[in-house]
Amino acid sequence: MSETEKKPSLETLVSLLKRRGFVYLGSDFYGGLAGTYDFGPLGVELIHNIKELWWRKFVSGREDMYGLSSSILMPERVWRASGHLSGFADPMVECFKCKRRFRADHLADQKTCPECAGVLGEAKDFNLLFPVSTGATEGGATTAYLRGELAQGMFVNFKNILDAYHPKLPFGIAQIGRVFRNEISPRDFVFRTREFELAEFEYFVEEKDWQKYFEYWRQEIWTFADSLGLSASSLHELEIPDGERAHYSARTIDFEFDFPFGRKELFGLAYRGGYDLSAHAKESGIDLQMIDETENKKFFPQVIEPTFGLARAFLAIITSAYQEDNLGGEGRVFLKLRPKVAPIKVAVFPLLKNKPELVERARQVFRKIKEEIPATVFDDHGNIGKRYRRQDEIGTPWCVTIDFETLSTETVTLRERDSGEQKRLSVADLLAEMKTQL
Ligand code: GAP
Repeated sequence: MSETEKKPSLETLVSLLKRRGFVYLGSDFYGGLAGTYDFGPLGVELIHNIKELWWRKFVSGREDMYGLSSSILMPERVWRASGHLSGFADPMVECFKCKRRFRADHLADQKTCPECAGVLGEAKDFNLLFPVSTGATEGGATTAYLRGELAQGMFVNFKNILDAYHPKLPFGIAQIGRVFRNEISPRDFVFRTREFELAEFEYFVEEKDWQKYFEYWRQEIWTFADSLGLSASSLHELEIPDGERAHYSARTIDFEFDFPFGRKELFGLAYRGGYDLSAHAKESGIDLQMIDETENKKFFPQVIEPTFGLARAFLAIITSAYQEDNLGGEGRVFLKLRPKVAPIKVAVFPLLKNKPELVERARQVFRKIKEEIPATVFDDHGNIGKRYRRQDEIGTPWCVTIDFETLSTETVTLRERDSGEQKRLSVADLLAEMKTQL
């Protein structure tokens, strides 16, 4: 393995991501809140790009998908029906001495506290749902829950979609949104947090077709991972055996990624069968079956569920993209991000900042490019070499320099991030070339 292919450490990534405004510890200003992170200006752009690619591929680019944005607050009945009130728990142990709590399954057979070496108690199930009181407390408060799973929004809207659109099977309901889990031990930066964003869909099929569609979505997950720039050699499928799957799943494949802290779940693919629709039909008394007209009988559609954790996708992309080399004999760090994913696509510079005619022309070129490619920035701080390094470190694929030749020939210099190669071309040609990759 060459020097540049070596995985960066998590510390290296965390430091870069904080310094360059991608990710901060949540409420850092007040000392932070464990298990929460804030995405800064560049982080939010990158996450937005992942969401756009996802939505286009899985929702707006298809004819069989219905988009949704359901409420985060959902009543207790939803979670009773879904099985999360009773089954959505991790095994927890508490230290008798320091009172810290740990996930029992993260400690393997360790019998003492990893923090203070105190004695650990027996493992107990700890429910991950966050209860909240809604309404006035005097006599009227009810307990609702911050959703612990995005999927339940799709199931409780299943009938709304049927009534409004009368879709035929197969079809899906998709959404992107926040999920809340009271993780016992949040860890590994944005990998395991108490609040996170998911992109997910429930794909409803006839029972006879479930294996066919399971295979279909399995391949589509690989295609999507490739479009994010994740190398196939870092992504691995793990078939989850009986007894280890979530309570609703009859088959699950985890897509694991080689993160800096080891091989861990990135995306998931589950066959939920008819579990959720039949559970909600029973709890609500509302019929959620469809009609098989050829056989004139009712049935619960079966569900295939691909799920994509966005913060984990973000971290996998950054891990894959991080590179170090010696361009021009000088060490540099750069993020080899796909242009579609990069938070900033183009940086425009005047060669010298103390030459008003160059600055003015550079501003004109900047505005022209920005009209067509909004993620374009203007930079006239420091010298050209430093500007390149700053853009390399955040993964900007293209730097455009306006120099004296621009004033007479209307051409600019385009510098490509990975190779450092430069060429002259007109702004029109430059735009055309960049747009083929966006
Ligand atoms: N509806 C299925 C579902 O929620 P899950 O495996 O519990 O399945 C889905 O979670 C995805 O959410 C995971 O594949 C992972 O990407 C992400 N995820 C799960 N727990 C997380 C956490 N505590 N912090 C960040 N992402 C998490």
